[in-house]
Amino acid sequence: MIDVCSASKSFTFEGRLTPALQAIDLSIADGSFVALVGPSGCGKSTLLNMMAGLIRPSQGYVTQSGRRIDSVNTAVGYMTQQDNLLPWRSAVDNVMLPLILKGTPAAQARARALTMLERVGIERFARHFPSQLSGGMRKRASLAQVLVQDPSTILMDEPFGALDAQLKISMQKLLLSLWESSGKTLVFVTHDLTEAITLADQVVVFSGRPGRIRSIEASTLARPRDALGGQFSPQFQALYQRLWSLLAPDVESALTASAA
Ligand SMILES: Nc1ncnc2c1ncn2[C@@H]1O[C@H](COP(=O)(O)OP(=O)(O)O)[C@@H](O)[C@H]1O
Ligand SMILES: [Mg+2]
Repeated sequence: MIDVCSASKSFTFEGRLTPALQAIDLSIADGSFVALVGPSGCGKSTLLNMMAGLIRPSQGYVTQSGRRIDSVNTAVGYMTQQDNLLPWRSAVDNVMLPLILKGTPAAQARARALTMLERVGIERFARHFPSQLSGGMRKRASLAQVLVQDPSTILMDEPFGALDAQLKISMQKLLLSLWESSGKTLVFVTHDLTEAITLADQVVVFSGRPGRIRSIEASTLARPRDALGGQFSPQFQALYQRLWSLLAPDVESALTASAA
């Protein structure tokens, strides 16, 4: 369980204090899939960084399983929007790297990395370098690199944001199939409402900066979910409209503010 307790964060940049997040209270139950949506700049990545222990709240605190997170949180795997694959290592060498860094013997690390590449469907490309992989394959390799560490919680920051529509659906299918039987907790930032509803149990809607939680909406579509077909149900469409009505005022005011 991750608990965010009255957490706020302000950044000082060139002498100016910018409040990024304000008074966030959020509980993420073990095994749940939670999506975070909100206007750009409302502090979603900041909140993930707090859960990962990479930055500390200015006020309040974050706990995992009752323990306060005040240094790098090794219980989480973190997949950022840009992949972290090293260009000079092959796919399998990249995927095994986190295990090597933790002291796993090389042969064992390689075997686990190969199994994970198989699970994400790119075992044939294990010896390819990142520049030889397509965008979709690099995403799969990054996902394998996070999963190989077998973290109980996975943080994903707009992981499929840069993919085209078809690739995105295939990644969502893959993620659902890997997650649904895993028991892992997933916290997933996206600006795509369809993606949030398709994947998550709960969708947390943030206001514009400084980010506050505007609402937490349950996505109750039956599981296992269909990454494509689910979108055509009336239940899906009602939730989409509800989420958009919560977000629209902030999105519009951000637009007029940047035009002014
Ligand atoms: N390290 C930092 N230093 C200064 N300002 C930052 C830093 N990180 C984020 N911010 C600011 O905090 C706000 C929230 O950023 P971020 O969490 O990246 O938003 P989001 O992920 O929702 O788009 C933005 O205004 C951003 O410019
Ligand atoms: Mg962000």
